[in-house]
Amino acid sequence: MRLHHLSLTNFRSLTRLDVEVPTGTIVLVGDNAQGKTSVLEAIFMLATLSAFNAESERELVNFFAAREPLAVARIKADFRHDDRPDTRLHHLEIRIIQEANGGTSRVRKEILLDGVKRKTNEVVGQFNAVLFLPQMMSIIDGSPSHRRRYLDLALAQVTPGYSDALATYTRTLEQRNALLKQLNTYTGPHAGDQTQLTYWDEQLTSLGARLIHARIHAIHEMEILAALTHRELTQGREVLRLNYQPAYDPLPPTHGQYQLKLDDPRDRTALPLEQIQKGFAAALQKLRREEIARGVTTIGPHRDELRFLSNGVDLGTYGSRGQIRTALLTLKLAEVHWMHQKTGHWPVLLLDEVLAELDHQRRTDLLTRVSTCEQALMTTTDLNLFAPDFVSHTQTWHIKEGRLSS
Ligand SMILES: Nc1ncnc2c1ncn2[C@@H]1O[C@H](COP(=O)(O)OP(=O)(O)O)[C@@H](O)[C@H]1O
Ligand SMILES: [Mg+2]
Repeated sequence: MRLHHLSLTNFRSLTRLDVEVPTGTIVLVGDNAQGKTSVLEAIFMLATLSAFNAESERELVNFFAAREPLAVARIKADFRHDDRPDTRLHHLEIRIIQEANGGTSRVRKEILLDGVKRKTNEVVGQFNAVLFLPQMMSIIDGSPSHRRRYLDLALAQVTPGYSDALATYTRTLEQRNALLKQLNTYTGPHAGDQTQLTYWDEQLTSLGARLIHARIHAIHEMEILAALTHRELTQGREVLRLNYQPAYDPLPPTHGQYQLKLDDPRDRTALPLEQIQKGFAAALQKLRREEIARGVTTIGPHRDELRFLSNGVDLGTYGSRGQIRTALLTLKLAEVHWMHQKTGHWPVLLLDEVLAELDHQRRTDLLTRVSTCEQALMTTTDLNLFAPDFVSHTQTWHIKEGRLSS
């Protein structure tokens, strides 16, 4: 992936930024609160089309511009899938539009790919990027929803149809839950119709099985890549494992012997999609009475869990800050290689303040790896954290109050 040009208007504090983006590594240097993270966030949004670092998209609109009845935060980019000149140049534009609506205002989003308006799901995966933010350590030690979101954003970028299946699954789940509540609350003329559940079960399990199937394979593939990287980043001291714990597990429970869930290296990669769906449907059927009583769908990808283990120890519970940070870095580097495997292109690597907490050896290892990427952007408050030799092979951008200079 090769980003050629980036232009931002009223995106957070970046009121106007317009820049040619060179190939190789770019180091973005600036004091705190000058807009470094916002630049990476904008580029990542070209890949995911949704805001990772904000509660709502409204936050992305420059708040001075937002005082006007109409304000538009705009991200525009020219990119190619690879660096060959005969590869097509694409133009992607994201507009976050805030407009007055009665006494309040509403926010909507428009996406244009090569000048044509598109839906989010049609554009996810056109541009690929991997983002490391220090606060993403919550992927490892935060709530399971952080891990699901992480997986979904990575999968949506490289798996055709994943983003669509996920959106439809989520809507189906809401409708199924509404029906379960209706079945348990009302009797008489307002009672829900149990036969309708059969329809929603069919929808939910067919979509859910696709998500589970994709997650099984993604986690398996990423684990292999992560294990290699982690061994190197920790000088052979730590073995990292990714342990998928699907809420509906298509493998039968292991009976007869006591086994810690975490020590359980279960290989689900041979399971065909149809078998997952059938099993999921049968499990829902068994749970039907209980789910009606509780008014909620208790199993399925919306409750999946993924744990990170170092030398058999769960990092989410027992990891030190340094260990978690290194594991997150491993995960992101593995993701870069995974996306390359899946798409044939290197994603743009975006690393926010990654060096500050690493020891000297890990810094050197990391910088060597970054240099192999086609394009990488790293932010720092202090250029001295980088080895002079590394800096001489990069472009340096300085950022002050949202303005760039070379
Ligand atoms: N919607 C917005 N409008 C204007 N400024 C914003 C908006 N959102 C965030 N900011 C400000 O942008 C500044 C730069 O943020 P950030 O990109 O995180 O800087 P850095 O990474 O350089 O520390 C912060 O001071 C923040 O308050
Ligand atoms: Mg920052």
